[in-house]
Amino acid sequence: MVKRQFPNPIELAKLMKFKAPELNGKKRRLDSALTIYDLKAIAQRRTPKAAYDYTDGSAEGEISLSRARQAFEDIEFHPSILRDASNVSTTTQVLGGTSAMPFGIAPTGFTRLMQTEGEIAGAGAAAAAGIPFTLSTLGTTSIEDVKAANPNGRNWFQLYVMREREISYGLVERAAAAGYDTLMFTVDTPIAGARLRDTRNGFSIPPQLTLGTIANAIPRPWWWFDFLTTPPLEFASLSSTGGRTVGELLNSAMDPSINYEDLKVIRAMWPGKIVIKGVQNLEDSKRLADLGVDGILLSNHGGRQLDRAPIPFHLLPEVAREVGNDVEVMVDTGIMNGADVVASMALGAKFTLIGRAYLYGLMAGGREGVDRTIEILSSQIVRTMKLLEVTSIEELEPKHVTQLQRLAPRAVAPSAAAAVPAKRAAPRKAAATKATPATKKATPAKATIASTTRTGSAKAAPKKPAAKKPASK
Ligand SMILES: Cc1cc2nc3c(=O)[nH]c(=O)nc-3n(C[C@H](O)[C@H](O)[C@H](O)COP(=O)(O)O)c2cc1C
Repeated sequence: MVKRQFPNPIELAKLMKFKAPELNGKKRRLDSALTIYDLKAIAQRRTPKAAYDYTDGSAEGEISLSRARQAFEDIEFHPSILRDASNVSTTTQVLGGTSAMPFGIAPTGFTRLMQTEGEIAGAGAAAAAGIPFTLSTLGTTSIEDVKAANPNGRNWFQLYVMREREISYGLVERAAAAGYDTLMFTVDTPIAGARLRDTRNGFSIPPQLTLGTIANAIPRPWWWFDFLTTPPLEFASLSSTGGRTVGELLNSAMDPSINYEDLKVIRAMWPGKIVIKGVQNLEDSKRLADLGVDGILLSNHGGRQLDRAPIPFHLLPEVAREVGNDVEVMVDTGIMNGADVVASMALGAKFTLIGRAYLYGLMAGGREGVDRTIEILSSQIVRTMKLLEVTSIEELEPKHVTQLQRLAPRAVAPSAAAAVPAKRAAPRKAAATKATPATKKATPAKATIASTTRTGSAKAAPKKPAAKKPASK
């Protein structure tokens, strides 16, 4: 029998802990977001359809992006036990500098279209969090203004080598003069991918007022208020390059004729680190390693270019194993959770980048929204590391992660199989194009054999070399 008593008012009072209501609407909104998908939902409510779809959408059937996200969801983690994980360090070394987290902000064009604070919000939030910020050639804030927003932090500049090469060369010189430490040369845009949402929305820069856009604006007055009361949208770093229209500049940004000669020229001009963005196979990774670039970014541009392109996260183990001693292998596309970052680091990435996760935060709440994105991802990273019982990024190993089979290729093509030696390759020799070949510190590769991870066998993963020392401390 249950023993009952009269409710005791003193006990009842102890249970009544009402929190004062949060009067700041933006803070309330952002605090309610616990995941990047929550920020995405807020972003969609607050942003006009054409601008939201431009950000959220990708190319053709949007298969690349959904596969990339699926691949991260298909991670299986393998925690260790009975290790002291009270204190976790997320600091990592990338491209000759420190980052407080193993992710940075990817370059995105038109950023002030999503929310008027644009790149200033991104660069400011990155500075506060101690992570790098990358400005796009098609950014809506200039090279110099981003530097001013993040004067002491790490700024990277993303370069499109434009049809009119002189324009790009001018940007390289300005980024160097402003103290950007890394140049990210994007190579996966010979032409623009087919962004069907944009075509269907009649998307244009600047946005055109039609009956449809006006109807869509009614529940989103703040976006329009910001848009109409702040300086007009422009490709801010390019506006000083002559009287071209936005459309002409956009057309000029993509040139199908760019090639390795352009890389040579840019490398010779740039005094800092250089990363090639948009690498999508092992063969190109090896060639770039031989040429002595500092980093490669495995990326399919967030699915915005070639649809059904390889999933960068699937390429990672093999590429990191083969060239990770020679170049810093980074990965992006599809990262929506700090656990995705942790898995990438375990499978050999030196660093990761976030595109939409940052933009969803921006659209959800400007600068504070980007802070919230970084906060959510950072807490997910720390939590995942503690649950794996690792205390530093360097301790993450292939044994901690397997990639489940759902999205694995059915068979490796014979030519690709021939290109993959069974054992870890010896460091490759950097060629004369490299700016500082002798001083580069090798980064031991820590990736497992792709085919074994794809079968989900954690045991088959080779151990990370015992000699590996934390590079960051
Ligand atoms: C709206 C938008 C604009 C982008 N603009 C550029 C750009 O100007 N240059 C570039 O190299 N990549 C650009 N990207 C690609 C990102 O740098 C990054 O590779 C991609 O967003 C990563 O995928 P994620 O969005 O799933 O994180 C853009 C991506 C988005 C979503």
